[in-house]
Parts: sequence; structure tokens; C-alpha cells
Amino acid sequence: MNDILDGIITKYREKEGNVIFLLQETQDALGYIPEEAVNYFSEKLEIPPSRFYGVVTFYSQFHLKPRGKNIVSVCCGTACHVKGGSKIAERIQRDLGLAADGETTEDGKFTFEIVRCVGACSIAPVVLVNNSAYAEMSADSTSKLIKELKKKESSGTK
Ligand code: FES
Repeated sequence: MNDILDGIITKYREKEGNVIFLLQETQDALGYIPEEAVNYFSEKLEIPPSRFYGVVTFYSQFHLKPRGKNIVSVCCGTACHVKGGSKIAERIQRDLGLAADGETTEDGKFTFEIVRCVGACSIAPVVLVNNSAYAEMSADSTSKLIKELKKKESSGTK
């Protein structure tokens, strides 16, 4: 991993606001921001770790833990919440055996995430699987969707 991190440092060492570029490229390369990466950058560049964590926690696109192959999200913004977003969230957690937002299944195949308004309130409640949005979902239709995803995963098709 250090080779990857050294390459990223060389690229952004002289750039203004390099923290965000370092983090973005690390996430692109590794899929998330490991604690070791933050410590490594911090030591090499003499930037306190708190600056990295400040950026990571401010921008929702950064992740401190590895994520699954499939990201199953439910919108719990106001419109989706009113139409049952929370019930869908509970069902997804139950179907995937996950206890909370941001958790990943042990086999690394699914991560569950709660998102805020994704700008599609007219088709609420919205479920997202990777980059695809599913409109007017219910707990039951989401369960069906997850069943299909699991089937695809176990048969090795995408
Ligand atoms: S609240 Fe869910 S899309 Fe707007």
C-alpha cells in the first residue's frame, strides 16, 4: 500500500489544498480511506491527522471503512421518510443482517447506507442500488429486489 500512497504524495505535494486530492485519490485507489493512509500522509507531509479527518467527515463521498461490492441505499429525506423510508431501511437491515447505517455484510457483497434527499422526491420513496434508482418502493418490493441481488451474487452474474 505504501507504494500507492507515495505515488499520490508525489503528485500532490506541491498543490494548494492537497488534502482533498490526497484523500480522493486514495479512495479511488483503495476504495476507502484506511487509518494507516491518514497516519502515513500525516507523518510524511507534517499535516495533523485532524485535518484529514475534518475533510473526510465533512464530505459524504469519503469512507473510512471498506464498502461492499453493492451499495444498497434508502433515501430518508423528508418526502421519502413520510412515505415509508424508515420501514424500508429496517427491512434492508433485516434482509442483509446488518445492524446499522454504513455496515457491510461479512462476505463483502453488500453495504447498507441511509442517504438524504437525492432530488427525486416525486418518486418517493427511493431505493438506490449502486448507481440505479428504484422508484416508489415499499418494504416488500425492496425485499424482492434484495432477494434478486443476492441470487445474482450467488450465481456470479452481475
Ligand atoms: S426525500 Fe427522498 S428523494 Fe427527496
